[in-house]
Amino acid sequence: MILSKMQSLLSGRTSLIYLVSEEEERVERLILAAVDKTFSEKPKFFRWSCLHGLTLAGKAVDNTRDPVAAMSGFLRIKEPAVLIFKDLHLFLNGNPQLMRQLKDSARILRAGKNKIFFVSPRRNLPDELLSVFKIMDIPLPRYEEISSILDRCIAETANGDSVRESLTLDLKEKLVRAALGFTGTEAMDAFHNALLNTKRVTGQTVEAVLEEKQALVEQSGVLEFVSQRAGSWEIGGLVNLKKWLKERGRAFSPQAAREGLTPKGILVMGVSGCGKSLCIKAIANYWKLPLLRLDMGRIYDGLAGPPEEAMRKAIKTSEALAPCVLWIDEIEAGIANQKQKAGGGAEARVLALFLTWMQEKTAAVFVGATANEVEVLPPEILRKGRFDELFYMGLPLKEERKQILTIHMRKRRVDPSKFDMDYLAASTEGLNGAEIEQGVISAVYESSSNKTEVTEHILANALRNIVPLSRTMRERIEKIEAWARDRAMKASLETI
Ligand SMILES: Nc1ncnc2c1ncn2[C@@H]1O[C@H](COP(=O)(O)OP(=O)(O)OP(=O)(O)O)[C@@H](O)[C@H]1O
Ligand SMILES: [Mg+2]
Repeated sequence: MILSKMQSLLSGRTSLIYLVSEEEERVERLILAAVDKTFSEKPKFFRWSCLHGLTLAGKAVDNTRDPVAAMSGFLRIKEPAVLIFKDLHLFLNGNPQLMRQLKDSARILRAGKNKIFFVSPRRNLPDELLSVFKIMDIPLPRYEEISSILDRCIAETANGDSVRESLTLDLKEKLVRAALGFTGTEAMDAFHNALLNTKRVTGQTVEAVLEEKQALVEQSGVLEFVSQRAGSWEIGGLVNLKKWLKERGRAFSPQAAREGLTPKGILVMGVSGCGKSLCIKAIANYWKLPLLRLDMGRIYDGLAGPPEEAMRKAIKTSEALAPCVLWIDEIEAGIANQKQKAGGGAEARVLALFLTWMQEKTAAVFVGATANEVEVLPPEILRKGRFDELFYMGLPLKEERKQILTIHMRKRRVDPSKFDMDYLAASTEGLNGAEIEQGVISAVYESSSNKTEVTEHILANALRNIVPLSRTMRERIEKIEAWARDRAMKASLETI
């Protein structure tokens, strides 16, 4: 798909093409392949870097280290030619001649077929140049490309034959999937390390690649893999939300993707401790998809690079890992922060970038966002077309509290059938899920320190001793509820 996109760029009218990628070698290979397929007459291939200036087949052209001079030289070439120009973003600041040269080149080259490909890891271009380029983000390698990288790596290993023999179709698919999200070089290195000194591919080989990927994704500073092994994430109540998810159970099958039925995501808002985060974890668990957590705070604090770049990279990685669930916890954190800064600029662009991505997204990345401070959410985030559904989670109803109690008692090996669950559920009005869980935990601690079993008396007491958030924050909760009433779907059935 990427090749055909590049081919259409090559046959298009725009002569300056800006490719955003950290993978120079891979991009160069892609350009060469696209050129091969598009032109019948082989063009001359020029390259430019600040170290070597303009080169043709490894030979330097004199006096072309200066980017302006290099581009002038290229403009004078009459025969079919393509130039690959590296790191343009480093030379634009305070260089009006280069800006002028780019604008002129765009106009002059338009008349012919020669093209300049700028390959940079960053997109930061001055606004006035945006219309001069066709800009394209090169996605990370997809399944087929990674699969051929694996083949190449096996061919290069010492035990290639026996490794190939042990590689069942199932293991191959798992290995390739494990390497999605890597750049080409990273995938090659990961396969190489995992196959080092082995004669057979096993589940452990897959694990080794997965571990390397986790470390790498987390290095990005804004994304984190959430392990699916941590728990079963059973949800009590929230019938409407569960129904919605169940109906979309098939959503990530290849067929659904072909039919364009892959859901975009949900925004879950509401009272603290009622299971918003829990639900997103459960979704990934139900659908058996990898779960990636995006930290909005980290995007805005700038530690992972300019916010817009960090966001773009996070999106790119999540798309490469598709199908997956992208969890954005407390999405409003970034937005509130942005208001404080009130500067517009990069922060506003991050939000715009996210919203456009949500709107146009075709990759099977299900976004599960949660929000507490609903009032600060800008209306454009709530508009249809971004999220498939907005859910509101209020305090659990009686029947829900009974289910939540049951889940947490069973988790701690306390048998609910020995308790009057209706009574306990009735007596926990006003508690949220997290508080109910806390009550169960306290009861278990108390009974174990007294070396007795958990009794109804101990549990009821522990639950009674909790001062619910709903009491200390009543007004706030009422406000959130009123806000959500006309905007969101209730996650629980109102009358159970
Ligand atoms: N409906 C529920 N069923 C089972 N457990 C629940 C439920 N709601 C909450 N809990 C328990 O409470 C814990 C905390 O809930 P969670 O972190 O999902 O709340 P939250 O809505 O994200 O809160 P916050 O807004 O403070 O982040 C969960 O890990 C779970 O153990
Ligand atoms: Mg949460």
